[in-house]
Amino acid sequence: MKTNLDADKTIVGFNVGHNGSCTIIKGNDIVSIPEERLNRKKYSDGYMYSFLYCMEELGIKTKDIDLFISSNYGDYLPDKYMGDFKVLGLDNQKFISIDHHLSHAYSTYFMSPFNEAMIIVIDGQGNLNMTESYYIASDRNITRVGGNNSERSKYKGIGRTYETFTNYCGWSAQEAGKTMGLAPYGKDKYPNIDVYEINEKCEISSKCNGKYYHGSYNFCKENNMDFGKIGTGFENKDAAYFIQDRTEKIIIKLVRQLYNKYKIKNLCLAGGVFLNGVINNKILKETEIENIFVPPFCDDTGQSLGNALYGYYNYYKCSNRFCLKNAYFGRTYTEEEILDVLEKKQNKFILPYEVKSFDFKYKKSTNIEKEVAKILSEGKIIGWFQGGSEIGPRALGHRSILCAPYPKEMKDNINEKIKHREMFRPFAPAILEENLNEYFELNIPSPFMLNIGKVKKECIDKIPATLHVDETGRVQTVNQRDNDKFYNLIKEFYNITNVPVLLNTSFNRGGEPIVETPKDAIIMFCQTPLDYLVIDDYIIWKGDDNI
Ligand SMILES: [Fe+2]
Repeated sequence: MKTNLDADKTIVGFNVGHNGSCTIIKGNDIVSIPEERLNRKKYSDGYMYSFLYCMEELGIKTKDIDLFISSNYGDYLPDKYMGDFKVLGLDNQKFISIDHHLSHAYSTYFMSPFNEAMIIVIDGQGNLNMTESYYIASDRNITRVGGNNSERSKYKGIGRTYETFTNYCGWSAQEAGKTMGLAPYGKDKYPNIDVYEINEKCEISSKCNGKYYHGSYNFCKENNMDFGKIGTGFENKDAAYFIQDRTEKIIIKLVRQLYNKYKIKNLCLAGGVFLNGVINNKILKETEIENIFVPPFCDDTGQSLGNALYGYYNYYKCSNRFCLKNAYFGRTYTEEEILDVLEKKQNKFILPYEVKSFDFKYKKSTNIEKEVAKILSEGKIIGWFQGGSEIGPRALGHRSILCAPYPKEMKDNINEKIKHREMFRPFAPAILEENLNEYFELNIPSPFMLNIGKVKKECIDKIPATLHVDETGRVQTVNQRDNDKFYNLIKEFYNITNVPVLLNTSFNRGGEPIVETPKDAIIMFCQTPLDYLVIDDYIIWKGDDNI
């Protein structure tokens, strides 16, 4: 991605632990990619594939690199941590390590449009017991002003408490999004019981005690609460409601307390907890905060970028600021690479047998947006692959599965045929930015799908496949400046159907990482009932028919 940074150094950020990734800043270029996209193992640790990917894209060799910066969760890393890089025989004088939460803070503030801001970081675990931390930032300086009590167990932090209830429902810590999706189906069974407390120093602690599901199980037992048999998913919906509701409330309290202390109306958020768009929306609605910035990589996929930005602003004291407008930090594939796959040449991408023997056809379109919009208006489901991939867990129109947002059954269709997700999880509406107010009760754009808004009553029937049971949508707003092709596609769909919305979900199957290369995309196309695949200006379809 081209930026207005001006690094005269080549800076590598990487992170150790789950959601491994690598970022390189060189000149005004930033390339960043999670390891899982390349080794095809969801939530993978490691950074070697992503390191080589970034180096290749920027055309650099290890000798060109000036600084490596790493971070970790759990224990602090040694100052000159080299990890897997040791095998490359690099000079350990070029390595530094930083704090996990500080990396999150850098990743959000230095990609935000704000000069002065409060920063809140909340995740499952930073270094040692750190789970909540608060900062004030101004003029490119970040100062820590508080957080959880370091003596308190990490299992009593907000992230781990949300996770233990997620475990209660039968899912892993990484699947907290399922709990958020399930919550609106539940009810407040125990309105007088809270799980969190906060003191005047803004130190938060939950009453859960114990690892994994034991924390929530013990808490429920002590308070005579019955949320059903552990691990029964949908049946545990009141547990999901409980933890979602109490987490919203404690974060609102925290934001209000911090605001009363510092009186700063700009807020930058990071840490996996803020993938929870319902919370982000309530902060804007229920506190004095006027402007909020949540990057699409607010979970640990943003650690390597935070680390690289620390090198740029703190270590080298560079000054140019960059305001994030889109999430496309991956490399773009050339027409030659795309044709390598479509023509099954295998000069670069070695294809599995089932793809080599699969009968698909393709053509290059001279007006891809118009042609694909027509296909979508006919009720087809497509894989949409354009340019560089998105950083973070959300597909934002470069590696997406798309279809019309109606009828309601479209959601079940995608689920049964392709995604195989739980029926209670919603799919997102991608909407033209200028039509946002017409469809949703949202006042500000949501380019990274991290704000959730209520649909307006008169629009419910127009986009039912993208709405949740509580008539909300996990909205992505799309404008022409930041995402030309995706914008034009939705606009053409609007011209045909009078609906400025497409259903957008990530281009992957349940349990798999989002596709990265044209090869990944064609494999998934051949292995699923996707009707069409679109790669750049190429339309690919199955069988003999012409289109
Ligand atoms: Fe984190």
